[in-house]
Amino acid sequence: MCGIVGYIGARRAEDVLLDGLRRLEYRGYDSAGVATMQGEAIHVVKMPGKVVHLTEALARTPAPGSIGIAHTRWATHGEPNQTNAHPHLDCRGDLAIVHNGIIENYDRLKIGLIERGHAFRSETDTEVVAHLIEEYAMKLPFEEAFLAALRDVVGTFGIAVVSRREPRKLYAARRGSPLVVGIGQNGEYFLGSDPAALIAYTRDVVYLGDDEAVSLSDTGMETFSFDRTRITKTRESITWTIDEIERGRFPHFMLKEIHEQPAVIVNATRGRLDADAGLAKLGGLKDVEARLRGIERLSIVSCGTAYLAGMVGEYMLEEYAEIPTETELGSEFRYRKPILDPAVEAVIAVSQSGETADTIGAMREAKEKGVLALGIVNAVGSTIARDTDAGVYVHAGPEIAVASTKAFTGQMIVFSLLTMLLGRQRRMSQATGSRIAHELLALPAKVERILAQSDRIKALAKKYIHAQSMLILGRKYNAPVAYEGALKIKELAYIHAEGYAAGELKHGPIALLEPSFPVLAIATQDSVYEKMKSNLEEAKARRAPLIVLTNEGNEELVRIADDLIYVPRTIEMLSPILNVIPLQLFAYHLAVARGLDPDKPRNLAKSVTVE
Ligand code: M6R
Repeated sequence: MCGIVGYIGARRAEDVLLDGLRRLEYRGYDSAGVATMQGEAIHVVKMPGKVVHLTEALARTPAPGSIGIAHTRWATHGEPNQTNAHPHLDCRGDLAIVHNGIIENYDRLKIGLIERGHAFRSETDTEVVAHLIEEYAMKLPFEEAFLAALRDVVGTFGIAVVSRREPRKLYAARRGSPLVVGIGQNGEYFLGSDPAALIAYTRDVVYLGDDEAVSLSDTGMETFSFDRTRITKTRESITWTIDEIERGRFPHFMLKEIHEQPAVIVNATRGRLDADAGLAKLGGLKDVEARLRGIERLSIVSCGTAYLAGMVGEYMLEEYAEIPTETELGSEFRYRKPILDPAVEAVIAVSQSGETADTIGAMREAKEKGVLALGIVNAVGSTIARDTDAGVYVHAGPEIAVASTKAFTGQMIVFSLLTMLLGRQRRMSQATGSRIAHELLALPAKVERILAQSDRIKALAKKYIHAQSMLILGRKYNAPVAYEGALKIKELAYIHAEGYAAGELKHGPIALLEPSFPVLAIATQDSVYEKMKSNLEEAKARRAPLIVLTNEGNEELVRIADDLIYVPRTIEMLSPILNVIPLQLFAYHLAVARGLDPDKPRNLAKSVTVE
């Protein structure tokens, strides 16, 4: 989604801002722009399309100065064209503003501003804020005008502003849309909606909280609330490195991240398992361990791929920890008025970014009802990580490709650890705990064996490159994996793919099957394998081409399958972690074979910070 970069210091702001925008490109956007200040002059350059187009425009018309703000826009209000691109100015061009989020009361504010003589240039909700600040700044010092405008706004925002009134100050504020300040050497400051924008310059950061503002100047940084109460913030250190947000030897981030999965499993389990004792230790849950013993129901809330990880988690928690669990889409949970009992229920918010608006909304709905809110989050310091009562980090490292892969694997690993922890608090035996732990520790090497088949899967993808539609089937633990495989194929290769719990085949989708409609079936040898074999027969009888994923050494499906993919064996509850990897590779290679960029699928954003 939209990205914000800001800078004040001694360097050429344009260079820092462009570099930051490039690092935010992965988030998805459709236009880009910068505003710098030199003396009291504001220089704005913006372009529809990619950051490379903005770079070309800046080569023709440079933006001088050592303070500035920049933005990549993902259109919500108004087309993705040059006029609607950020930054936006007030009537007199005295200030420039960039904004992530949605101003929900913008139409009402806009009507009032037009009546009072303000002239709008764009169709955006953002421009309203520029004119509001302008209006307050006629009677108030700039800082007060900035905060007064924010108090009028309903909705979500990460905002950054520069003004001719205070030419060596950069103001920023957030409500619901992340912002992080990077503290550089010799009094320079960086601003980003994502640490990736500033990691090349500094690791020392301060995360702004909701309803917090910051002013950055040559003399220092001040943080305060919207009513101007000073706030003392703690400095934090970013632990990941620049290498982790670069592609290295891989042609795409997505392929790099798929290949990082053995390391993700190692990192997610490191220091968290006592395999012989059959115990999982999750430091982030230590303070709530006693409360967890009394939990009788769990709700897992999340979106997209994280939602599907939650479904796998539900199966694990019910089967092994014996806790009734429901997985729900954040966007549904928050509005359906869920009945929750704070005495015995907990909610688990699952999110790679920790910034997904629908998941945050669901988590807050639960917190308002006094329910224990837990997080399974990848992005350290993100909103969900900070606003939940306790949680477990996934430790997958930054995920740059829009399509989630390694975070999904990491989330499933965390669910298996949580299942062990809650299970051992209840009736899970040491032997069962120990078996799960030893299987978890064996996974990285097994994942490597699957990754080694990438070229075979590439050839397979080429064979199915012209498919118009596909059905992906799985059962029990692997039904969510089928849904995830279909989601990956849709979002990357733009092929209509439907994931189905295989038992549902004969209740409807079987009507679609014919020789041009491939079926990819997950048929690893688990408790539902025999049932899956019947589904394969049903599909074969309709002459649908069959791609079958099964275990190494299982030759009995050679007869029925048109193509086979083999994966190593593990226990059923962990099988999704292995089975999803060939599906990720298949979707990736399908996209590349179809000439598409798997890192930046059309219309998608990496983190969906609006509803
Ligand atoms: O950052 P989150 O895990 O909360 O994001 C949730 C979804 O938006 C995300 O998984 C989305 O479905 C991806 N495009 C999947 O590849």
